[in-house]
Amino acid sequence: MTSIHVAERVQRIKPSPSSTAADRANQLKREGRSIVSLVVGEPDFDTPAHVREAAARAMNAGATRYTALPGTVELRQAIADKLKRENGLTYALNEIIVTNGAKSAIYTAFAATLEPGDEVIVPAPYWVSYPDMALACDGKPVAVACSEEQGFKLTPAQLEAAITPRTRWLILNSPSNPTGATYSAGEYRALADVLARHPDVLVMTDDIYEHIRFEGGTAPHLLSAAPELRERTLAINGVSKTYAMTGFRIGWAAGPRELIRALDTLTSQSAGNSCSVSQAAAVEALNGSQDFVAQSLAVYRERRDAMASGINAIPGLSCRLPEGAFYLFVNCAGLIGQRTPEGKVLETDGDVVLYLLESVGVAVVAGTAYGLSPYFRLSIATSLDILADGLARIAKAVGDLA
Ligand SMILES: Cc1ncc(COP(=O)(O)O)c(C=O)c1O
Repeated sequence: MTSIHVAERVQRIKPSPSSTAADRANQLKREGRSIVSLVVGEPDFDTPAHVREAAARAMNAGATRYTALPGTVELRQAIADKLKRENGLTYALNEIIVTNGAKSAIYTAFAATLEPGDEVIVPAPYWVSYPDMALACDGKPVAVACSEEQGFKLTPAQLEAAITPRTRWLILNSPSNPTGATYSAGEYRALADVLARHPDVLVMTDDIYEHIRFEGGTAPHLLSAAPELRERTLAINGVSKTYAMTGFRIGWAAGPRELIRALDTLTSQSAGNSCSVSQAAAVEALNGSQDFVAQSLAVYRERRDAMASGINAIPGLSCRLPEGAFYLFVNCAGLIGQRTPEGKVLETDGDVVLYLLESVGVAVVAGTAYGLSPYFRLSIATSLDILADGLARIAKAVGDLA
């Protein structure tokens, strides 16, 4: 029997906890259980028709071949125009690379820049993939706990304390998955004042939820508040969330030429160009009608308001009203120490999540996956009816505790 050696860099990471939770919920569904899954982080809307039509047109017109490695000129121009129009940022086409989703932009950036032991500052709660991506690229994730009292946001003092001579990157994700926390221009400015003392620290902004912002308009950008950071900032974004295009796999990174050149080189010997048909669809998403963005935001807002007030009415649970993205990060400290009808004491948020799944069939993801406990994340990217069902079930499960 051949035994397969799995490289150490893979052994040190784990599959995405949200995919694992979704798989478990689906398995229970197949077994005939009635499950309300509030796990997935993708819009439940169809991709807008004009975008789907652009994909079909492109395919039928022969856009089925390799494209330029960093993305078609049309798409990089559409991205440059978008960065100018929405964020007030100027990038040349050779300062932009199109990738297979935002995920691959982040991974490639780490792979292209991290030496073994280089540190990546990851404010927690964080998107589950950041620490593992850093680990897979031989880096060392440095999680900094940002409490609910500080709005789940990194403070300048925490940033100053976390930076060491080994710090290579700081990642900022605003609005954030899982909390929806959104930095103001003033908060960015204060972080930039710390960064001014540490010129070797690179900054990655993950702007994937910038349009899902309940105040309306695009979320503030670090580089608008601190233009001097442009030469060491990589701005990550994509069409997945804003335009309900998760399956198209189109993301991008915009940054200084030297950094983008390194991403181009690594991509040319790994993923290659992104899907030609998807790139054409992304051009339409960025250049065409933006009606879908406002329409979907209104729906998310209604769900957020209904679900947050429902959660806050359940004794033992509470949640801040998120400023953006489509998740609630629910504080379940009030349930810790309580006893289930089976006599088990809930000791961690993992126990709470398991109890919700086993007792009432509600699937959510434990705060531990995001680096802050005791919390759980629930996604509001599903219909009001399903959310109401989920809420009623959670209320029943909590009511059964003693
Ligand atoms: C914060 C954050 N960044 C990046 C991504 C990945 O986006 P994409 O589907 O474009 O790879 C996600 C998806 O869940 C996310 O939540």
